[in-house]
Amino acid sequence: MTALTSIWPLFGLQLTTPRLVLRPLTDDDIPAAVAAAASGVHDPARNPFSTPWTELPAAELGPNMARWYWRCRGQATPDDWTLLLGIWHENEVIGCQDIGAKDFATLKTVSTGSWLRQSVHGRGLGKEMRAAVALYAFDWLGAEVAESEAASWNAASLGVSRSLGYELNGTTRMAWGGKAVDVQKVRLTPATFKRPDWTLHVNGHEAARRSLSGGEGPWPDERNHGPSSAEPRA
Ligand SMILES: CC(C)(COP(=O)(O)OP(=O)(O)OC[C@H]1O[C@@H](n2cnc3c(N)ncnc32)[C@H](O)[C@@H]1OP(=O)(O)O)[C@@H](O)C(=O)NCCC(=O)NCCS
Repeated sequence: MTALTSIWPLFGLQLTTPRLVLRPLTDDDIPAAVAAAASGVHDPARNPFSTPWTELPAAELGPNMARWYWRCRGQATPDDWTLLLGIWHENEVIGCQDIGAKDFATLKTVSTGSWLRQSVHGRGLGKEMRAAVALYAFDWLGAEVAESEAASWNAASLGVSRSLGYELNGTTRMAWGGKAVDVQKVRLTPATFKRPDWTLHVNGHEAARRSLSGGEGPWPDERNHGPSSAEPRA
């Protein structure tokens, strides 16, 4: 029978760091991702997300997460895509790191968002997974800018950003779940990136690149962005 990866090549993408595996969540992985989220992602007193999905009643959390995963897959085009990468640590799903772009061929800019189940916060795993997608974006996709944002009170998210070399990129006030929130924008470039001292291992890149760019496209290809370019530069 035809393998799913030959129909949906992004399912063959895998990023490996010293402690984590990041790969697109398949339908079989959704229950584990829902269990990780249901175990608690943040202090219930303050919601770090622009859409307060973690506050949904237990019976709605799973269907909502599944709909979001399916929507991101189904609506992805070369001009506007979001890749939802599940995070595996010691063979368990512990969270999600997303990376997305609009008009990537022109802007060469990605944006990211992430969450981890609360029981594993504060061990450097959030930094490791964000470093993984920054390395993938810069060294493999040819991105020139990586952007992120967080509520200005979100010390953990902004701590990850600071630690990796993101620069502050202005604040804006947004309505999150009907509440006004001051949001800190941050921006990383290859020049400011504090690269980790480990090497990112990537499998399935070429097929993923073709899916994301819609063919050969203007993106850098494997000849220029093979494993050697993922070596730390600084
Ligand atoms: C944001 C999140 C992914 C960060 O992951 P984490 O594993 O907890 O963070 P790390 O342990 O990797 O910390 C990375 C850096 O931030 C710092 N940091 C982490 N939590 C911090 C806190 N509460 N206050 C201050 N600094 C903090 C760490 O000291 C570390 O800096 P260092 O490398 O200079 O030592 C995680 O906390 C999370 O899932 N939070 C809830 C969801 C969320 O807020 N998502 C982001 C929405 S924008």
